[in-house]
Amino acid sequence: LDNGLALTPPMGWLTWERFRCITDCKAYPQECISEALIKRTADIMVKEGYQAAGYNYIAIDDCWLERERDANNRMVADRHRFPSGMKALADYVHERGLKFGIYQDYGTMTCAGYPGVLGYEEIDVKTFAEWDVDYIKLDGCYVDSTKMDTGYPAFGKLLNETGRPMLYSCSWPAYQDKPNYDSIERHCNLWRNWGDIDDSWTSVTSIMSWFANNQDELVKHAGPGHWNDPDMLIIGNFGLSLDQARVQMAVWSVLAAPLLMSVDLATIRPEFKEILLNKDIIEVDQDPLGKQGLRVWTGSNCEIWTRELFDGSYAIAFVNLREDGAPYTLSVRAHHMKIPNQTYKVKDLYKEEESRVFGAEDVFETRINPTGVRFYKFTKCVSHGRRIRANK
Ligand code: GLA
Repeated sequence: LDNGLALTPPMGWLTWERFRCITDCKAYPQECISEALIKRTADIMVKEGYQAAGYNYIAIDDCWLERERDANNRMVADRHRFPSGMKALADYVHERGLKFGIYQDYGTMTCAGYPGVLGYEEIDVKTFAEWDVDYIKLDGCYVDSTKMDTGYPAFGKLLNETGRPMLYSCSWPAYQDKPNYDSIERHCNLWRNWGDIDDSWTSVTSIMSWFANNQDELVKHAGPGHWNDPDMLIIGNFGLSLDQARVQMAVWSVLAAPLLMSVDLATIRPEFKEILLNKDIIEVDQDPLGKQGLRVWTGSNCEIWTRELFDGSYAIAFVNLREDGAPYTLSVRAHHMKIPNQTYKVKDLYKEEESRVFGAEDVFETRINPTGVRFYKFTKCVSHGRRIRANK
């Protein structure tokens, strides 16, 4: 969508994967979907370096609404959990230099059963603009999916007419068998392609294989202003080991994915925080060329994922899906990685090894932990006379 937004994949934090539809604030005061959770998270994003690293959206997913609209048919935020109201919460977020996102659904109800926008589109878009919302995730439960091809663009037009820049996240293709991606990329800034991520390695790898199996179609539609969305980062929660979390961060950055954390930032362990804040990997994700990478090789139950970057360098992730025991050694050449045969300086983005030089005819050897990753940036060396020196 050409609205000047999301020139690189959006980054931020979203409630859903970690906090789901927890609404009982008495039993779970730290976890319920509430203004307290948003304020606490916003403060941490600012104080603990997430905002500085680029995570600038904070968004509430489902379960923020009252069950009924008000007398004027306007949406109402849950009166107990959002006592100050959404405008005040948006102000709080904006005062900290962050942007404010909210979830709704194109159907009669949200997926969790709260009121949806269908039949109230104009009044709801007006309400969002009045609340100073910066980001709308529009889900697709409880509506005929054949209506989406016209419904999502129409809703986007209303958003545009408010004059307020709002990032538009569509779930449209996730509800269709043969989505019209030409239209989707013109009307949305990002879109969920497939099923929801859960808190498990199985879920992460199933998303990876779905994206790889459909990559020829998907990569054509990614670029500045419009991105495929493999769903939230679940790094720091219960289901992934440290190695598995590193895989998600690496592969999502190769996919030019939106980086939307969904984790309790108040209790996240430092080693997971370090993954989310890895500058080199965020730089790969945010590469200005905006070209989505590919799974370029599979073998021995390992995968190579390669993304071309704006300066002619490559981000290359070696993923080991094996669960048999010891780290596994892969030995590959340039053609396995789908990169030109030339001399590179190779930097390890998780800093487990020193930089090395990889020559045109060399074999590249790397040793990968079970369900783990080695992630490198290959930068072409330019020769000056007899000296060989790295580009960057
Ligand atoms: C759907 C979406 C999720 C989340 C839930 C909320 O399942 O795909 O990302 O928004 O609805 O109910």
